Amino acid sequence: MGPFFVGSKMGVEKFIFVSTITCLICICHGFTPQDNYLINCGSPANSTLMDRVFMSDKLASNLLTSSTKPEILASQSSSSDVYQTARVFTGVATYKFSVARGRHWVRLHFNPFNYQSYQMGSAKFAVSTQTHVLLSEYTVNGSKVVKEYSLNVDTDDLVLTFTPSATSFAFVNAIEVISVPDSLITSSPPPRLVGGSGMFQQSLSTQAFETVHRLNMGGSLVTPNNDTLTRTWQPDSDFLLSKNLANTVSKILSVKFVPGFATEETAPSSVYGTCTEMNNSSGDPTSNFNVTWEFDVDPGFQYYLRFHFCDIVSLALNQLYFNVYVDSMLAVMDVDLSTYVNTLAGAYNMDFVTPSPKGSNKIRVSVGPSNVHTDYPDGIVNGLEIMKMNNSRGQLSAGTFVPGSSSSGTKQKSVGLIVGATVGPLLALVLLGGGCFVLCKKRKRGQDGHSKTWMPFSINGMSVGSKVSYGTTLTSITTNANYRIPFATVKDATNNFDESRNIGVGGFGKVYKGELNDGTKVAVKRGNPKSQQGLAEFRTEIEMLSQFRHRHLVSLIGYCDENNEMILVYEYMENGTVKSHLYGSGLPSLTWKQRLEICIGAARGLHYLHTGDSKPVIHRDVKSANILLDENFMAKVADFGLSKTGPELDQTHVSTAVKGSFGYLDPEYFRRQQLTEKSDVYSFGVVLFEVLCARPVIDPTLPREMVNLAEWAMKWQKKGQLDQIIDQSLRGNIRPDSLRKFAETGEKCLADYGVDRPSMGDVLWNLEYALQLQEAVIDGEPEDNSTNMIGELPPQINNFSQGDTSVNVPGTTGRFEESSIDDLSGVSMSKVFSQLVKSEGR
Ligand SMILES: *[C@@H]1O[C@H](CO)[C@@H](O)[C@H](O)[C@H]1NC(C)=O
Ligand SMILES: *[C@@H]1O[C@H](CO)[C@@H](O)[C@H](O)[C@H]1NC(C)=O
Ligand SMILES: *[C@@H]1O[C@H](CO)[C@@H](O)[C@H](O)[C@H]1NC(C)=O
Repeated sequence: MGPFFVGSKMGVEKFIFVSTITCLICICHGFTPQDNYLINCGSPANSTLMDRVFMSDKLASNLLTSSTKPEILASQSSSSDVYQTARVFTGVATYKFSVARGRHWVRLHFNPFNYQSYQMGSAKFAVSTQTHVLLSEYTVNGSKVVKEYSLNVDTDDLVLTFTPSATSFAFVNAIEVISVPDSLITSSPPPRLVGGSGMFQQSLSTQAFETVHRLNMGGSLVTPNNDTLTRTWQPDSDFLLSKNLANTVSKILSVKFVPGFATEETAPSSVYGTCTEMNNSSGDPTSNFNVTWEFDVDPGFQYYLRFHFCDIVSLALNQLYFNVYVDSMLAVMDVDLSTYVNTLAGAYNMDFVTPSPKGSNKIRVSVGPSNVHTDYPDGIVNGLEIMKMNNSRGQLSAGTFVPGSSSSGTKQKSVGLIVGATVGPLLALVLLGGGCFVLCKKRKRGQDGHSKTWMPFSINGMSVGSKVSYGTTLTSITTNANYRIPFATVKDATNNFDESRNIGVGGFGKVYKGELNDGTKVAVKRGNPKSQQGLAEFRTEIEMLSQFRHRHLVSLIGYCDENNEMILVYEYMENGTVKSHLYGSGLPSLTWKQRLEICIGAARGLHYLHTGDSKPVIHRDVKSANILLDENFMAKVADFGLSKTGPELDQTHVSTAVKGSFGYLDPEYFRRQQLTEKSDVYSFGVVLFEVLCARPVIDPTLPREMVNLAEWAMKWQKKGQLDQIIDQSLRGNIRPDSLRKFAETGEKCLADYGVDRPSMGDVLWNLEYALQLQEAVIDGEPEDNSTNMIGELPPQINNFSQGDTSVNVPGTTGRFEESSIDDLSGVSMSKVFSQLVKSEGR
């Protein structure tokens, strides 16, 4: 066996982001925008709005060009308030900003007032950039309107053009052009389409957004000076359809930003730390209703919805399960935030696109209880952004304006007025427009939905496998570059692959223990570059592990593909494989409680792979040698080299050789060569019996009927005498009902047909129950009597001698024969065997 050990003395998920390889992994702290233009239009002086200084466009006059001259300056008010001055254009005028390429906010501030003959409240005009129309035939309705846009600029200048409609004029009070972290609205993974129809597959880099609503659910107004990206977040209560159905919760200090998920730039903790929750204060477990918000939107456009979630309401993980609906369509069901962020109060965002241009002028958003997990009916939302997306002509406005066609060309009135005015009472800002970004994050499968990535990387100087299947399109994604580690670093860490550091050898290659500069221990798996099989597994492993992060999955720290190398670097797992603690290595026996906790941990990891809201990932090689233990004996599932997404994918690949490890293989997979997550459940069932009986799953040295553990254990289980064959060291230390629950669970996992097997979620639940039964102290119950433990009966256990072949339980024997050593003739055995041996060796 070539166990690879990975782990570290600190929490794994944490240290990857602070170790010496931080250069490989993007870390964002307090974003500082490269471009930060705040322009006070029409004012001779700078002025301050909420602690932000807006520069006079008279002083920055190089920005503005106007087709009509001369410029008339006027000022009515000595106040330098941004909203008391405006610039008026009677012809086409442009502001040209020299910018770094990338995403930017463009915010346009409007506060109409009357100056001389200009009644700004009736002005009608268009605003456009080189690539998009932001406003057309626009008349400002109300006072203090801020339109916020998010645009990706791929030239060195951003040109904002104001074009008055015929016989009218244009005006603007203030303009902001501010860099937004580049990678932040990203198509990898792409947002999901509402209504279960897959992903939004168009590139988002040419997409312009206008923020139409940005809400801090259950919280108060957040102003630009309290948001690292100078956004405004409004309270949600005015949008709630039935306020009495909702509660608000606030726990701002408990918000955690877990590396790899939402960051402080995604939304501030003042947003994540409050939520609107389904009002179920009665705790009535039969409560079943939705909390619904309704928003006005422009019809004729698609909308981008970003939900911000943070479980500040649960007392424990895996308690809160809810559904999210958009326009009465299910957007995502049975959300369990803890499977993503693995902690309470971890910030998490989920993005959606409405499937087609909207027919109505309302968007409705609802949350309600899951109909799968119904123990604590509840639902929350912490924040929500609704962004209009430009239409296929690049417009964010339904008007007829076409850039370049000046509808007011002949007018030669006074131009470029600087106008001052006294404005009425201050009203709260209405913020409209703009996009928002995920900061330097590698998003997780929760958002990832159905996408599975083959990231490009080069082996032997050529790029391989750079395709992604999102339904039918193939896209290239490079996010995994974040995990690339220089060969020199790997060499240093392993003292140039010193043989004394070799801790195992497998089909893929050798495994070394290493140490990074900062002392972080790592396991370094070095593949044999000549192996094609290895290459496929290498890619799969990176793909899986860089997408799926979970407390119970071994973390990938990085990989190296320099110099034809195929090297994977993992967290080092101090205590090696579960298998090594069961038999064959002389390590001390684990207690029953430890074993239960290990099985529960592994089940959680597999449950995470199988569920969530994306297509299931099937591990395909579940075995005790692939479950590793950290320094606290916490179990983590390892070795994703054979993983596959699932069942649909595999139906097109039925010829794929049966892979997996001998003794753990699902007999149904053998028969039908069809892979489902229930094959993992079968293998996990074998692991359960292995953990219970502490013997190899295949032991050819034993009498025939004992060779295959699954078969042997089931025989005793059917007789109700499983206690006869359990690990000696457990005897007297297992409560009978705990054993019974555990064994029943294992038995169900081994059901002949996948459909009859439980899901990993059920397995998890049953194992937790078995743990509770072991721990429970119930007065007066005979089983509480600690003397009444399994094993009090005279041990017939090692009665392995020439087992009674007559115990053929109908329905089981045939099945197990298929997977027992002698009876594999029907399958292409040499192929299977070489697979088995290889993977067993890893
Ligand atoms: C906003 O920031 C100011 C200081 O910059 C702080 O005093 C205030 O409490 C903050 N408000 C909110 C709602 O976070
Ligand atoms: C919640 O809203 C959705 C969409 O309108 C609907 O299908 C579902 O039945 C509602 N649930 C409850 C409990 O009212
Ligand atoms: C938005 O405009 C871009 C061109 O700038 C275009 O490629 C894209 O398809 C448009 N988006 C939508 C949703 O039509």
